[in-house]
Amino acid sequence: MAELGITLVGDGELVPCVDGTERPYLSLDAAASTGALPSVAERVAEFLPNYSSVHRGAGWKSQQATAEYEEARAATLVFAGREGRDDVAIICRNTTEAINHLAYRLGLAASDVVLTTVVEHHANLLPWGRLCRRRYVECGSSGTFDIDAVRAGLDERPVPRLLAVTGASNVTGWVLPIDEIIDEAHARGVPVLVDGAQLAPHRPLPADADFVAWSGHKMYAPFGAGVLVGPRTAFASGDPFLAGGGAVDLVDLDEVVWTDPPEREEAGSPNVMGAVALHAALDALTTIGWDAIRSHDDALGERLRAGLQRIDGVRLLGPAHADVLPVATFVIDGMPHALVAARLSAEYGIGVRHGCFCAHPYLTRLLGLDDAEVEAYRQAVLQGDRTRMPGAVRASAGLSTTLGDVDRFLDAMREITSGAPAPVTYGIDPHTGDFWPHADGGPWSTAMRRLGASCARG
Ligand code: ALA
Repeated sequence: MAELGITLVGDGELVPCVDGTERPYLSLDAAASTGALPSVAERVAEFLPNYSSVHRGAGWKSQQATAEYEEARAATLVFAGREGRDDVAIICRNTTEAINHLAYRLGLAASDVVLTTVVEHHANLLPWGRLCRRRYVECGSSGTFDIDAVRAGLDERPVPRLLAVTGASNVTGWVLPIDEIIDEAHARGVPVLVDGAQLAPHRPLPADADFVAWSGHKMYAPFGAGVLVGPRTAFASGDPFLAGGGAVDLVDLDEVVWTDPPEREEAGSPNVMGAVALHAALDALTTIGWDAIRSHDDALGERLRAGLQRIDGVRLLGPAHADVLPVATFVIDGMPHALVAARLSAEYGIGVRHGCFCAHPYLTRLLGLDDAEVEAYRQAVLQGDRTRMPGAVRASAGLSTTLGDVDRFLDAMREITSGAPAPVTYGIDPHTGDFWPHADGGPWSTAMRRLGASCARG
């Protein structure tokens, strides 16, 4: 089954194109952010009149808001497969915050080693790098590694304090053999954090991971909530990541008694709207079911990649034969990635992401850049010139994407690569590395340009 018949809030909205017409917006950027499911928007709208302080009010509405918040927390534990375990779910903003949170809470010494991989998003690289040493599992030219490479990293000395690994790549969509990886780490007594940001909307989260983090904004709950799940004992003593109100039992001017987890980890007023939205999204995904989601994803992913492969000059990055999410990341001979993305948007109303996707080390490997090339773009960026940033274009599908949407994108790609001149010329902004059409008047005119997205930043 390819079509799930799901429409997200905002699907079909018309957006302006440089030819003066409007087209229905086609988001092929689900790997970055998804629109809201209608059931999420409805649940948020239903809850809004009851909006009140969580954990801090005696009023009826505060009781209701607190109950909704705690029900959402309980739902995240079920979604992560934690029933019957003494785990806690910490509701935070997103995966990045969750991993920073965990990195702080592990009490790492500068000499400690965290084993991670070159496939990771920056969110699962940078938090470790500023606290301790990192050891990397390297990938091959197709962007994958095998279990022997993980074993070798685990067996090196010193024994890593943690294995921090993604469940699926945000660049190539490669779904890692995560259960096998977790088993290998556990066989050596090494706990595992899984970055579940990409996996969570598409596949069940690995229940055996010690810690798992994911985001609402990639799973149809765009109200700013993410989750860190882990054993209660990991948060039972020591300072929380955030210090402040709601995280304490007692405070004097020179004393603090932190409260129990998970509240200990959630200083400040909780994001109850985000939690309600996340809960609704988890319910919706559970109702749709993983089998239906998987067959939808597989059908779209195959159409997307097979279609791109047939276009002259397009080169797909990532593994040719592996378990992958409905994602296609590619480069086009002789055409800057930023220009392709700009043309898809300005001429066709199609939204994709381009650049390095917050995964610079992975992209340099996938693109096969040598040290001199990396140094050249590095020097350019340090001088404020992002025009030389290497990168690729990524199209990623979600629950509401149809085969027809994929075909519309492929038609656009065939036109763009056909050699026919673009209807307008484009200029590149050195500061952002993004292209912008030279259009007279209308929404795409230079005068209308606002502070827009900059894909070059990662
Ligand atoms: N991590 C998100 C992406 O890959 C933002 O686009």
